[in-house]
Amino acid sequence: MRGIFITIEGPEGCGKTTQSNMLVEHLRGKGHEVVLTREPGGTRIGERIRALVLDAEYREMTPRAELLLMAASRAQHVLEKIKPAVDAGRVVVCSRFTDATIAYQGRGRGFDIDLINETNRIATGKVWPGLTLVIDIDVRTGLRRAFGVEKAEAKSGEGDRLEKEDIGFHERVRQGYLDLARTFPERIKVIDGSGSIEEVSAAIREVVDTVLARLSGGR
Ligand SMILES: Nc1ncnc2c1ncn2[C@@H]1O[C@H](COP(=O)(O)OP(=O)(O)OP(=O)(O)O)[C@@H](O)[C@H]1O
Ligand SMILES: [Mg+2]
Repeated sequence: MRGIFITIEGPEGCGKTTQSNMLVEHLRGKGHEVVLTREPGGTRIGERIRALVLDAEYREMTPRAELLLMAASRAQHVLEKIKPAVDAGRVVVCSRFTDATIAYQGRGRGFDIDLINETNRIATGKVWPGLTLVIDIDVRTGLRRAFGVEKAEAKSGEGDRLEKEDIGFHERVRQGYLDLARTFPERIKVIDGSGSIEEVSAAIREVVDTVLARLSGGR
């Protein structure tokens, strides 16, 4: 089978980490060679960048510096890990990728979308996901899941530098993802993240299995 690059996206606490792990288990069970990875991060260099970008200590980080650090992590990730794995016929499952930059830095921070797209192009060298799953969740539910506390009315809270953003920021991120899914309906599938972990996982398996069957059928 040809390799495929699958990205998992969605707002904070939607279940990306949980569902990526479950998907990988499912795919390995079916005999696929799978690489599980994440952004920012995924490589030695990327994980150093991740630590810097998410560290709540660095409140002075400018949006432009944040954007370029994310891009630097991605550039390393694509060449060192993602592209070689896909070329070798593996399934790569990655939590957050280019759509996250559009949703977070573009919609969340209000950064110019053309500039984001250009930055994504430079970072990826045109390696794009073949399938993207957006796990959609009510923002307050997601934050509550992620923190186990009622953060809904809180303006500043726990968590890393991006998680600390206010509710409006997270609402824009969610809307950004839904708009992306409308713009790229072939590539991006929206998964209802409000059900149980098992329900969400079953919905994801169904979408992924369908796409993989199409790939191995050579269509
Ligand atoms: N469908 C679900 N129903 C209830 N709780 C869930 C569900 N999915 C995940 N959780 C729980 O919510 C919390 C956040 O899940 P997870 O870490 O997978 O989300 P995430 O999208 O990776 O979050 P982050 O954006 O912070 O990385 C975890 O404690 C997880 O066990
Ligand atoms: Mg996570």
